[in-house]
Amino acid sequence: MLDNKNIIPVSEYIGAMINDVDLAKIDDNLFLAIFDAFDKYKGLLFRQQKLSPEKFVEFSRRFGDLDHAPQMEKGQTAVLGFPEIYIVSNILDANNEPIGSLGAGEAVWHTDMSYLSNPPDVSMLYALEIPPSGGDTSLCSMAAAFKMLPDKIRNKVVDMSIKHDGTYNSGGLLRKGLREDNDPMTCAGQPHPIICAHPRTKEPVLYLGRRRNAYILGLERQESEDLLDLLWHYATLPQNSYTHEWAVGDLLMWDNRSTMHRRDPFDSSARRLMQRTQIKGHIAPSGLEI
Ligand code: OGA
Ligand code: MN
Repeated sequence: MLDNKNIIPVSEYIGAMINDVDLAKIDDNLFLAIFDAFDKYKGLLFRQQKLSPEKFVEFSRRFGDLDHAPQMEKGQTAVLGFPEIYIVSNILDANNEPIGSLGAGEAVWHTDMSYLSNPPDVSMLYALEIPPSGGDTSLCSMAAAFKMLPDKIRNKVVDMSIKHDGTYNSGGLLRKGLREDNDPMTCAGQPHPIICAHPRTKEPVLYLGRRRNAYILGLERQESEDLLDLLWHYATLPQNSYTHEWAVGDLLMWDNRSTMHRRDPFDSSARRLMQRTQIKGHIAPSGLEI
């Protein structure tokens, strides 16, 4: 079981640190308590973990089926022998190729892979090496964002959908197999409702994906840009986010359907090495049942 004194909220609207848990050794009861806390806080932080790839995959699988690491950029993106573990890193190998994805630049606010019809449910990052400064990861709650929206805006967007761009990743790089397109009206993308019910809890959330190339279907281009800017303003209000300063052994996980995240840039000559798993989504984002 999980004693309440071991669940420490890390900010007002999102995230909790779970103390005194060794993720390599959890049983079904403890898992259920973690799952409950995850629904409540949407982001969970476990510190001082020592997870072998086997144990990391074992813990991740408790939340559902795992995606395999995509071939997003040049170089190797999975841990050898563990196709479920992506490497997020700026480190270069002997041939000067990155051993993982996302480099050392800023990753702007986004939720993972919202350009898919069934975007992933959960993402987990586990820190193996961290730079002396920079590279912090922030989370924001899209359930809180929904509540913060003024009624007028909420009512306006309740039946609208955003086309979620699939052309660029959060580091601004072109995804494999796609062509450059900076026009929100013509870029390839997947429509999803702006206001969604969380697939499991049914809690209302704002679902924005990422800002670049986003387009609100049916609106004039400028109208869409202005309304998106307004929605993004509420979603990313500083009081709605938690910024995590990493230590080696930290595991940070987020509900990809009710949060967004971003990463600060860091010195590209420093080393940052994260392992990452992602739980498949089986349900398309859908609007509120009224
Ligand atoms: C991700 C991501 C940010 C980070 O893995 O999906 O956005 O802090 N990572 O590396
Ligand atoms: Mn991401």
